[in-house]
Amino acid sequence: MQTIIVTGGVGFIGSALVRQLIAETDATVVTVDALTYAANLDSLGDARQSPRHVFEQVDICDGRALKRILDEHRPDAVAHLAAETHVDRSIDSPDAFVRTNVDGTTSLLQAARAYWAALDAERKAAFRFLHVSTDEVYGDLGADDPPIVEGACYAPSSPYSASKAAADHLVRAWQRTYGLPALIAVCCNNYGPCQYPEKLIPLMVLNALDEKPLPLYGSGMNVRDWLYVEDQARALRTMLEAGEPGKTYHVAAHEPRTNIDVVRAICALLDEMVPRAGGRYAELVRFVRDRPGHDRRYALDDSRFRAELGWRPEERFETGLAKTVRWYLEHADWVAGVRNAEYRRWIERQYRDPESPE
Ligand code: NAD
Ligand code: TYD
Repeated sequence: MQTIIVTGGVGFIGSALVRQLIAETDATVVTVDALTYAANLDSLGDARQSPRHVFEQVDICDGRALKRILDEHRPDAVAHLAAETHVDRSIDSPDAFVRTNVDGTTSLLQAARAYWAALDAERKAAFRFLHVSTDEVYGDLGADDPPIVEGACYAPSSPYSASKAAADHLVRAWQRTYGLPALIAVCCNNYGPCQYPEKLIPLMVLNALDEKPLPLYGSGMNVRDWLYVEDQARALRTMLEAGEPGKTYHVAAHEPRTNIDVVRAICALLDEMVPRAGGRYAELVRFVRDRPGHDRRYALDDSRFRAELGWRPEERFETGLAKTVRWYLEHADWVAGVRNAEYRRWIERQYRDPESPE
């Protein structure tokens, strides 16, 4: 029976991973999360009550607390998902991104390395440090560029992606220099239940239900590859079980969509599920000032991951999106929990006067 630490386990992807590990394996899961604005303990669902689940409210910048957690719980693996994750917030206030994503990753690597170095030979060989990163570290692609393969140059555009790129470099350095058995998952955009509604898909669903404008940045033609979060969690479990230390694996959905297509699809689903008295939801779409440095397109070549570890996504975008929209409709309590005063302040600040030039 394994013990797995999941940092950021109360966030969107982390909570999906924790729920799956508790529901589908016999592992003990230690969720380490500072509970920033992006966290909601309700996202843990039934896992929260499981005797195999432990919650530690700890900031990953706190090296002493991390040492205590590692010594106490003696994990077989660490899945590192804790991060500041919203590009627009990183443009507004980059410091928190450098603190958590760079300094926090460093302190976690140091704590994991000290713990791992003292393990006996068998446990040392089996230990894994899985770092979760993003396709955004490569910067953007033109419309006709081929998908990016592992080992391509990093060219991050935003403070968020730059801080994630720095974290990836640190993880590789700890692997190569100290031998820490680390591997990296570089992932495309995720969507699904429990995503904080500052991100495109939940923001549009909730704005539409509130009859608020649906703010598309720039032309709405930027392309993202969309993976359902349960498939993402399965991908991370596959890497924990069978991934090779020192390797980077790309995780892609092969479901590229322009932002305008995503928003139109959400509107069409809402037209069916909760018809709007005054017309169609798509009438709420507004093209607003573009995000500074807005990446045009991401696309990852994930043939290594599929060929070597046999992972395949189970969900198609259309069915996953329908499930996601329905989830937000049916979970008003979860939504009310995250749409607090802090959320309203962010929305007001980010979307105030969206037509005006910078
Ligand atoms: P999220 O913002 O929903 O959750 C992040 C979690 O980390 C929150 O629970 C937060 O409380 C916690 N956290 C933040 N700072 C912390 C700190 N200093 N100490 C401890 N906990 C802290 O993020 P997400 O969307 O679930 O992303 C998880 C990981 O996956 C991140 O590393 C992100 O870069 C990566 N990723 C996300 C996507 C995506 O589409 N969501 C795509 C590719 C990669
Ligand atoms: P987002 O969900 O923030 O993810 P990321 O920037 O990490 O890919 O945004 C997804 C896309 O949607 C991105 O191209 C920016 C765009 N977007 C809008 O057009 N309007 C919005 O209000 C938001 C939040 C995002």
